[in-house]
Amino acid sequence: MIEAGVVGGSGYTGSELLRIILNHPEFELKFATSRSYSGERIGDILPSLERLTDQSFVSPSKEQLEGDLVFTAVPHTKAMEYVPYLVENCSTVVDLSADYRIPTREFEEVYGAQHSDPGRECIYGLTELNREKIAVSSFVANPGCFPTGACLSVLPLLEEDGVNRILFDSKTGISGAGAKPTESTHFPNVQEEVSPYNVTSHRHLSEMKMVVGGNNRDVYFTPHIIPSTRGILTTSHLFDVSLDEDEVFKLFKDYYDDDYFVRVKKDVPKLSSVRGSNFVDIGGFEIKEGRLVVVSAIDNLVKGAAGQAIQNANIMNNLDEKLGLDYAGLSP
Ligand SMILES: NC(=O)c1ccc[n+]([C@@H]2O[C@H](COP(=O)([O-])OP(=O)(O)OC[C@H]3O[C@@H](n4cnc5c(N)ncnc54)[C@H](OP(=O)(O)O)[C@@H]3O)[C@@H](O)[C@H]2O)c1
Repeated sequence: MIEAGVVGGSGYTGSELLRIILNHPEFELKFATSRSYSGERIGDILPSLERLTDQSFVSPSKEQLEGDLVFTAVPHTKAMEYVPYLVENCSTVVDLSADYRIPTREFEEVYGAQHSDPGRECIYGLTELNREKIAVSSFVANPGCFPTGACLSVLPLLEEDGVNRILFDSKTGISGAGAKPTESTHFPNVQEEVSPYNVTSHRHLSEMKMVVGGNNRDVYFTPHIIPSTRGILTTSHLFDVSLDEDEVFKLFKDYYDDDYFVRVKKDVPKLSSVRGSNFVDIGGFEIKEGRLVVVSAIDNLVKGAAGQAIQNANIMNNLDEKLGLDYAGLSP
């Protein structure tokens, strides 16, 4: 068994990692940290995990951070406090924060913070794009939730003529903002609302540009919060596409033929089909007056975070990438 630890195990992505690790046939939970709940039983703090483990949260001090495989699921600028030690002392590390996804200088600009571990070598963990590199890496920067759904919805088109402008319009559930409530996630402020935010300048735009913005392609992104707990639905608009709808559909089918977690269908995808699962559903594929619309749906906490992190960890440890993840969503 591979001993797996989670730094930040009490948060939304951390508790999702625990849920998957505790059901994983090859991983065994070694530790989960929480500064607020150190010493308290995991099952008392996260009742959904009662019976699955008797372990307690530990503090994230160095002597606790032992394991073959460690996930960091802490806020941005905090992962860089742990990663240098973990990379030195554990065989494989997957960071779910933004600290290592984009080049250091860009990180410092976009996140307005100094990086204490600049230039560290790592692989960007969009599994379907970088599977071969992930397989030989010991440190992976797991992608952001928005970039995962958005980039997967256009990857097959990047070599096509005319794909010079992409607009991502995303709707996200509130768990994307983490476990701590804020004014913008307070129930009366989100219920029966659709709230656009950071409409031209969300931090994930830099990550999207890194992945799909080659050849001077213009990439735009506007996120919205919707009154749902999980899920990101992204409507991607591509202009001046020269293919027809059947050609686009075939392109996607062929491109993702070997990618178990990507389900390509002509129907427009639904959040309810992917909720709680590691699947990304991609569909739509309508073209009118040169504008192609592709829609993707993911669960932000699974394919957008913990699930993709486990998928990457499986690959880094030479395991079948489906292990611990091969289950359907919670529909309805
Ligand atoms: N939510 C999503 O949908 C999503 C998707 C993809 C990526 N991410 C990224 O994943 C990371 C975690 O997000 P989240 O939504 O799970 O956040 P969260 O719910 O706020 O959880 C944060 C976790 O980190 C711990 N923590 C906070 N500060 C820490 C520190 N200085 N040292 C050690 N532990 C610390 C917290 O516990 P204690 O304070 O008790 O220690 C908690 O367990 C973030 O970087 C986020 O951007 C989130």
